[in-house]
Amino acid sequence: MRAYVLGVYTILLLAHSYLRWPLLLLFLLLLARGVAGWVRRAQWQPMDTGLLQAATRLLSLQFLVGLLLYVAFSPWIRVALEDVGAAMRDAQLRYFLVEHALLMAIAVTFMSIATGRIKRAPAERRFRGTVVAVLITLILVGAAIPWPGMSAGRPLFRVQEQAAPAFF
Ligand code: HEM
Repeated sequence: MRAYVLGVYTILLLAHSYLRWPLLLLFLLLLARGVAGWVRRAQWQPMDTGLLQAATRLLSLQFLVGLLLYVAFSPWIRVALEDVGAAMRDAQLRYFLVEHALLMAIAVTFMSIATGRIKRAPAERRFRGTVVAVLITLILVGAAIPWPGMSAGRPLFRVQEQAAPAFF
């Protein structure tokens, strides 16, 4: 059972770790098309709706994988929940228990709401809405990434299994 949990954990963590790159690519593409369309007053195309939806869906998938790690498979969260008071005094445990999860959840909720509003907005306002929504989401997500060098930092490209918390 423990080997199974660790196996699933490794797969989910790898997926969660690498999904950020196609996500970033999609968001940068949206931003580039958004700025170009806004500046040139271009016509909103079905492809723009498709791109917007693809980015939001991939972000939701990333959220789902994060949620699975959070509620079931991450040893970091399991250890943190054993003693929440102690976890709040430990920078790494607190980061994944509270800061990362909360800020990312806000980013995903924001982008989902924004996507719905952009799709319903008059065509001439959609590019501007996309640029603003993407920039805000990128700032929120960027602020919640465990960048290398932080106390809770993680590699940009994971090639090894994550070590368990020291007192696991
Ligand atoms: C939606 C945007 C999100 C992005 C871009 C993101 C990104 C990341 C990255 C890059 C890592 C480090 C991966 C590694 O160590 O290789 C990570 C770890 C983690 N994330 Fe997220 N995350 C997101 C959302 C969430 C959400 C919403 C939750 C929880 C509800 C969550 C829970 C976790 C947990 C628990 C870990 C640490 C897992 C462990 O090491 O055991 N993430 N995330």
